[in-house]
This record gives sequence, C-alpha cells and structure tokens, in this order.
Amino acid sequence: MNYNDDLHWESKNFSNIPLSVFSDENIYKREIEKIFIGPVWLFLGLEAEIPNSGDFITNFAGDIPIVVNRSKDGNIYAFVNRCAHRSSTVVRELRGNSKNHTCIYHRWCYNHKGELTGVPYQNGINGKGGLPDDFNKNSHCLKRLKVELYKGAIFGSFSDKVEPLLDYLGPEIIKPLDRFFSKPVEILGYMRQRIDGNWKSYFENLTDGIHAGLLHQLAVKMGLWGSTPDGGIKLDRYGRHSHYYINYLKDTKYNGEYFKNKLALNDLTFSETVDEWDDDISTDTISIFPNVMFATVSNFLMTEQIRLVNPGEFELLSIVIGYKEDSPILRKLRQHQVAWLGPAGYVALEDSEAGALIHKAIKGQDKEHSYLGYGGHGKIKSSDNVLTEIGVRGFWRYYCYLMDFDSTRDNLKYLDSF
Ligand code: FES
Ligand SMILES: [Fe+2]
Repeated sequence: MNYNDDLHWESKNFSNIPLSVFSDENIYKREIEKIFIGPVWLFLGLEAEIPNSGDFITNFAGDIPIVVNRSKDGNIYAFVNRCAHRSSTVVRELRGNSKNHTCIYHRWCYNHKGELTGVPYQNGINGKGGLPDDFNKNSHCLKRLKVELYKGAIFGSFSDKVEPLLDYLGPEIIKPLDRFFSKPVEILGYMRQRIDGNWKSYFENLTDGIHAGLLHQLAVKMGLWGSTPDGGIKLDRYGRHSHYYINYLKDTKYNGEYFKNKLALNDLTFSETVDEWDDDISTDTISIFPNVMFATVSNFLMTEQIRLVNPGEFELLSIVIGYKEDSPILRKLRQHQVAWLGPAGYVALEDSEAGALIHKAIKGQDKEHSYLGYGGHGKIKSSDNVLTEIGVRGFWRYYCYLMDFDSTRDNLKYLDSF
C-alpha cells in the first residue's frame, strides 16, 4: 500500500486526519507492528494488583494477550499468554496467585519468568514416543516483554529499541504522575467497557480539552463542572503524551449555579468533594501514548487502559483506586464519584458514545477527513488553556512518525527538533 497516495494527508500540520486510519484493516495490522510491538512503553497494570509473590493478572498489550506476575525474587515479569507448544492460552483466569503456570492442553509448565520448567512425556514411555533428543526447554519459553516500573505503574515493551521509561515519560508527565502516586494506592475495583469504535478516536478524546463542558452536560447542569474551564495542556517534548488539567473555579458565575437551582440534586453527597492536594487543580488526565490515561476527577482516581480488539472495536479497562490511608469519609466520596463518572453513570458512557458515533458516521468515506482547528494550526506545543486540539494533533504527529507514512517523513526533522 502506498500510504502517501491512499491516505490523503491533506496537510502536514496534522489538522486534517484521513478517515481511513479509523477503519482500514491494513493500517490496524501496521499499528500492531509499528506501534504496539514497536518502540513504545505500554501500560500493563498496577503493582498494587500483584503485591505478593505468585500474584498474577492477565491483560492485553494492544491486542496481544499477556500475563503479568510477581516472582519469588520480588520482581515483576510479563510475557505473552500463548503456549510455546501449540499456542493455547496458558493462564485462563483474570487474576490470582499461582506457584507456576500450567497450560491445560498438554500440561507444559512455566515459571514466573515464563521459562519452561516441565514437559510431560519428554522421553516417552519405555523408550517409545516423546520429544526429540535435542529438545531444549530453554528454546521454548514464553515470549517476554521488557518491564519497567514507575511508582506504582507497570509498563512493558516488546522492543529493545525503546527509550528508558523515564526518558519516554519526560518531566511533563512525571510531575503529575508523582501527584497521582503521592501515597500508596489500594485497588477499589475494576470497570470494563467494549466500544464499537476505533481506539484512536478514544485517545483523541483523552486529550481533547473542548468537549468536557459540552458533551458532559449532566455534570455541567448539576453544577459539578463549569462550562468554561480554566486550565491548560502540557505536552511532552514530542507532543505524544499530554497532561490536561482544570483548575478549581474561582468565578462562581460560570460554575453551573444557574442550572443547579433549577435541577436540584436529591442526594447532595453526589456532588461533594474534598480538596486533597496543595494546588489549584480539580481535574486532571495524564495521557501516555499509546494506551493509557491516569485520571483524577475531584476525588475519583483511576487508570484507564485502551485494549485493541479490531479496527472497529476496542475495550477500556479502568482500575479505580484509593489511597491506603483514606479516611472512611474520603473513601465513601471516591465511591460516590464512581457512580457518575464510571460506565454506570454518565461521563464514561458519554465519552464512549462519542467514539461510537464517529464509527457510525465515517463508513464508506475513506477519502474524507476530520478537522482539528481549535488552538490553530501552528507549532504543536503546550497550551495555557484547554480550548484547543493541540494534544490531539500531537498524538497524530507521533502516530505518523511511528507508522512511517511517506507523506510525513519530512516532518521527522521537525519532530526531532521539537
Ligand atoms: S498447547 Fe500448551 S501444552 Fe500443548
Ligand atoms: Fe470526556
């Protein structure tokens, strides 16, 4: 495929996105190859999910099934959940604790590092059958990912060429991550959504500062959020990750009081919040290319991981957390806030629905484009306001760089010098 001709990137400033990138099967395959098994760090889970030796979770890196576990040596290892024999799923549970991992099909057994430790009938029975004499267990291990941790977050990569994790995150992302992980965390629960849409339209949403007061009307009308947010977006040096933040409203004129008087809440605890940090930020989202967002919305804390299914379907796995030292009152507030932010409430559903609406609307229109104009078409850099699509353009620029599309090659110098 000649991406230059077929994709029709009309502009090189990433303000027009060809719709075929949201649906094309070949592009999806290329994303797996160039991005998800390429030089990126993928969020795999939280250390708090596997605190003890033998604890494991199953997850997906892009759309590749993986196991993440803690070994006796205290270290965390991650490997592909595909048996080295005939490719069956090895670990079938969502999470648990296990001394080793045994494939149910022919009982090949692996340790916490993914090394093959046991094989039935290796020498056959009475000299008959079995594996060849030169069979070597070391050549049949589970495919391992490189793993690095930052605070409580586990990241993995299939690539040896990926930057060290700290360089990958950069100071713009490390600072808010330190705020998110300022105290030891505890898992409060999980939420999962399967969405008819393309994973990239969801990543766009994460760093789209404009929609919050427009799409999420319930939150605004109930006076929970302002319709004119005051905040900004900080991008890392390549514009691939973003930190979007909204400050507490100083001017109550726009904080929804008008609507609040007309649409009173029966249960006022619904909208109660406690200011936990020594800064002005009420809401922030940290989006890390290509598969995770860390969100703090009032007292609601969660990680949200994007898991791919196919070009027209993806899954969101959210881990809702609290801090171990939470008072009972604060813990209750966090749980209340899940009710309206999670998929049982409105905000998460509204964001998912936006992705599904795009998916419905673009069918059969590969030659058309979406338009990113808020914030202008200039240099991709941090913004001191949120009424901008600068983070979305930053995402697309890095996406194109990794995908190696012909028409964007001459932007690489620009990207490197950013
Ligand atoms: S497929 Fe796993 S042991 Fe045969
Ligand atoms: Fe949203």
